[in-house]
Amino acid sequence: MDQQTVQKMIDLAVEQMAFSYTPYSDFRVGAALLTKSGRFYTGCNIENASYTPTNCAERTAFFKAVSEGEKEFSAICVVGGKNGVLTEYASPCGVCRQVMMEFCDPETFQIILATGREQYEIFTLKELLPLGFGPKNLA
Ligand code: THU
Repeated sequence: MDQQTVQKMIDLAVEQMAFSYTPYSDFRVGAALLTKSGRFYTGCNIENASYTPTNCAERTAFFKAVSEGEKEFSAICVVGGKNGVLTEYASPCGVCRQVMMEFCDPETFQIILATGREQYEIFTLKELLPLGFGPKNLA
């Protein structure tokens, strides 16, 4: 992935935190998802008074994309922190990793974790979800 695309995805993910709905945790998360066709879909976390319906930023981005016909993805950038302050990487929760497993090749799908333009690391889905269970297991 080229440097310019990484920077753009970090910027998009950071921008998304402004839309996070987090009255319960104040933990804002933003995500930017890149399709194989080169489109970007963004997402923020959306909390709920009943807690469990809360949707993570990553899943918001995936569900927006899939609901518009996209099913092939190459990378996602995730950023987050208390009150939107980025002090450490906001690593995707287990449920979000499983949603990625549904639509992405674990060997090649890239997960960019960042605390800013200058500080980021890129992982494959396989690194964050080793021995994952996915559609191939049911084929
Ligand atoms: N959160 C995400 O948006 N993504 C993750 O992968 C981890 C957690 C959100 C959910 C909730 O709104 C807040 O962070 C605290 O858990």
